[in-house]
Amino acid sequence: MRLTKEEQKMLNGEYGATVQKCMKVLVKLGEIYGAECMVEVKSVHSPGVSYRVAGDAGLGYVVDASADAKFKIPCTLNTIGIDEDAWKEIGFDEYFASQQIKLSDAYKKMGAIPCNTCTPYLVGSIPMQGEHVAWGESSAIAFVNSVLGARTNREGGPTALAAAVCGRVPKYGLHLDENRKGTCHIDVQVPLNSDKDYAALGYFVGSVVGQGVPVITGVKERPSIDNFKTLGAAAASAGAVALYHVVGFTPEAPTYEAVVNIELETVVFGQDEYDKVCSKFAQKGDIDFVVIGCPHASILEIEAVAKLLANKKIKTGFWICTARQTKSLADRMGYTKKLTDAGVEIICDTCPVLCQTLTQRNYKTIATNSGKMAHYAPGLWHLQPVLLTLEECVKVALEGKWED
Ligand code: F3S
Repeated sequence: MRLTKEEQKMLNGEYGATVQKCMKVLVKLGEIYGAECMVEVKSVHSPGVSYRVAGDAGLGYVVDASADAKFKIPCTLNTIGIDEDAWKEIGFDEYFASQQIKLSDAYKKMGAIPCNTCTPYLVGSIPMQGEHVAWGESSAIAFVNSVLGARTNREGGPTALAAAVCGRVPKYGLHLDENRKGTCHIDVQVPLNSDKDYAALGYFVGSVVGQGVPVITGVKERPSIDNFKTLGAAAASAGAVALYHVVGFTPEAPTYEAVVNIELETVVFGQDEYDKVCSKFAQKGDIDFVVIGCPHASILEIEAVAKLLANKKIKTGFWICTARQTKSLADRMGYTKKLTDAGVEIICDTCPVLCQTLTQRNYKTIATNSGKMAHYAPGLWHLQPVLLTLEECVKVALEGKWED
C-alpha cells in the first residue's frame, strides 16, 4: 500500500506501540482488500464496546490499548450491555455489569464519546455527504451511507478502534465511487404508510439482495428519519445491506440513472411479498413483552407512545430503548413520567439484543415495530415475535394480547 509520511511514521512506531499496532491492523486489512492507499476519516462509531459481543478477549484488547493510546478523531460508542445508570434496578447481572463498565471505561479513557447508542446520528454525530468515516453497527452503517451519503465500510470493534487511534482506514469497498452503484432494483408496488411497512420492506430488501446495494423505486412520499432507520436496520439484519438508494429521496439517487450503470434485475415488492414478510412475524394470542426503539427511539417515537398511554396502565412488559440524551429530552417534556406511570420502562444505553437480563423475566412472546428486533428475538431469547405498527404495539400493551 502507498502510505503518506505520517502514516509511515505511525507504522514505524514513532507514535508509540499502540498506534503502531493499530496501523498494522489497518495496513493488513488494506492488503487483504486490495486498497491502494489510506483515507482520512472524520469520525468513528465503535461497535466494540458491548461486553456481550466483545467478551473477555475484547475487553483485554481494549484495556491494553487504553494504556497508551488516545483517539485522534471523534469516536462515538454504540449500544452497550447495561443501562449504566439503572442496571441494578433493572436486574442486570453484577459480574456482567462490572465487566461492561471496565470496557466502557477503557474507551472513555481514550477519549470516546459515551453516547451508548445505535443512533449516533440522532444525538449529534451527523457526517456530511461524501465524508469518509469508520462506523460500526449495521443499522447505523446503513443510515450513514444511505441517508446521509457519507462513506463507511462495515467496521468491527478492532478496526473501528484502529481507525479512531490513527484517523485512517484503508480506501476500499464503499469508500470508492464504483462500489456505491446499485446491484439490484427493488420496485415497490404497495403504499408505505407506517413504520411496520418500512420494516417489512427493509426485511424483504435484505433477504433479496444480501450484501448488495439495492436501488428502491416506487416510494411515493418522502420517508421520515424514523422510516429510514427502520428500513435500514431491517435490511441490514435480514441481509447485510450497508448501502441502499431510494430514488428521489436519498442523496446519491436523485434519479435511477445516477446510481445505476449496468442493467439490473428487477424484483417487485408487492402485496404478496409484503404479506409473506408479515406472516413470518405473526404471533397471536397472549403477548407478554413489547419493544419500541430498535434502532433506539427518537423523541418523536417516545412522544407518540406517551400520548397513546397517557393516564392508562399496560398489562405487558414494555421497553422503550433510547439514547440517554433523548431520554433527557423526554424527561423535560413530561413523557418519561407519563410512560413510567403507565408501566413502561425507558431503557438507556442498551437493548434486548445486547443485554443479558431477559432470561430472568420469562417472557415468551414479543410485539415490536422493528424488523430487526423481530428477526433477532426468536434466536436470542426464544421470543415469538409479531411485527406491528407503533400504535398496534401500544394496543397490545394495553390488552395483553394480539388477535387481529
Ligand atoms: Fe440498536 Fe440494539 Fe436494535 S443496538 S439497532 S436497539 S438490536
